[in-house]
Amino acid sequence: NERYDLVIAANRLPVDKLTGPDGEVSWRRSPGGLVTAMDAVMRGRDGAWVGWAGDAGDAPAPFTDNGMELVPVPLSAAEVADFYEGFSNDTLWPIYHDVIVPATFHRSWWAAYKTVNQRFADAVCAVAAEGATVWIHDYQLQLVPAMVRAQRPDVRIGWFDHIPFPAVELFAQLPWREEIISGLLGADFLGFQRKADAENFVRACRRLARLSTRGEHVQTVDGRVVRASAVPISIDTAGLDELARTPEVQARAREIRESLGNPKKILLGVDRLDYTKGIRHRLKAYEELLRDNVIRPPDVVLVQVATPSRERVEAYRQLRTEIERTVGRINGEYAAIGSSAVEYLHHSYGRDEMAALFQAADVMLVTPLRDGMNLVAKEYVACRHDGDGALVLSEFTGAYHELKSAYVCNPHDIEGTKRVITKAITDPVRERRKRMKSLRKVVGAKDVQTWATNFLAALEHAPHRPEEAE
Ligand code: G6P
Repeated sequence: NERYDLVIAANRLPVDKLTGPDGEVSWRRSPGGLVTAMDAVMRGRDGAWVGWAGDAGDAPAPFTDNGMELVPVPLSAAEVADFYEGFSNDTLWPIYHDVIVPATFHRSWWAAYKTVNQRFADAVCAVAAEGATVWIHDYQLQLVPAMVRAQRPDVRIGWFDHIPFPAVELFAQLPWREEIISGLLGADFLGFQRKADAENFVRACRRLARLSTRGEHVQTVDGRVVRASAVPISIDTAGLDELARTPEVQARAREIRESLGNPKKILLGVDRLDYTKGIRHRLKAYEELLRDNVIRPPDVVLVQVATPSRERVEAYRQLRTEIERTVGRINGEYAAIGSSAVEYLHHSYGRDEMAALFQAADVMLVTPLRDGMNLVAKEYVACRHDGDGALVLSEFTGAYHELKSAYVCNPHDIEGTKRVITKAITDPVRERRKRMKSLRKVVGAKDVQTWATNFLAALEHAPHRPEEAE
């Protein structure tokens, strides 16, 4: 039984399953930034990744993929429904994103959440070497820190929250709020996207679990001190920059422009099809700009990539219906043969196509109502080695706190958003370049490698045993 010095636990494994024509299974690295970061962190260390392979039923046996040991955790069909679609994505996700849609509470979903978290914890403990570092990710696994500590007081435990941590008044709605707090406090260090998220967590500990806190520190019932601090995630900046410079990507960007009929301005949205992303609000602002005759096809076109996501959760189905109806209405009203007003793509694309789209887009619309970070905003910037391009960015994203030179908007304010989009379209090139230059400085200086290094350093220096506390 192999043991590893660094164990990552995330709901999903860093691979996507491919099934060939004869039914043979192979695995492809998922394109996400987290995977790239962990790859680099694990290089030279003895690492394993514990996660779900994405199908209901039996899990494949552990296997090695590009030098990383992958340990699949099985989920039954009922657990996919109750733990993943239910508690994770229909209870926690809405609460942690300001209840944009109401959260659903079911005691049976909570039971499944506990069972599955315990299974992840057991899998982690089975592969962690003596004194290993365990890095747990995201809202699906908030009980794992305490469950690992209960079995393995020798390991160092960190947890990172990829999404927002809600205000205490919203978190308080959760009937299981105290269990979640003690689950998280099993860690030595808790990382969040923004300072405000870390503060929300500390406040929840004080108000709802009646623990004493000082600054970023929480005193646990077993006499430990846990630190909660902001460590904003980033992207593989250099890798994307390099990709965007390749002749293939440049040619593809030109081809995209031509296919769209060489419009003066291409507007672009790229989101998982999720109600947190503000796609409805964005379309409303865009439709009004068309109505007001501020912009008109074929001079301007909006390309909206909506990556399929969580399609069995009702709120996501409803959103899809609504978005597609709106796109149809806008095109019906404002498109002509050979020139759409909105090019809507319900697909997911690889890195190369994304880089080409970013290159082709004059204005990038990132307008979520709430978003932990939003890596698309950073990816767009990383791809603009030409120094041009305008980023419209919602102030309700984590990215806003680092990318303040963007064209900032409040997506709830339709008039304001229309003004900001218009400014991004019409500003002189000098103004656009000045902003992009400052954005590129930020994204260039802090990449995903910096993030992982900072997180692991904070975890390393966190007090571990009670006697190490101040
Ligand atoms: C967000 C979450 C991730 C999640 C991803 C995709 O970024 O923070 O934990 O993996 O969405 O969602 P999915 O439900 O498909 O894993």
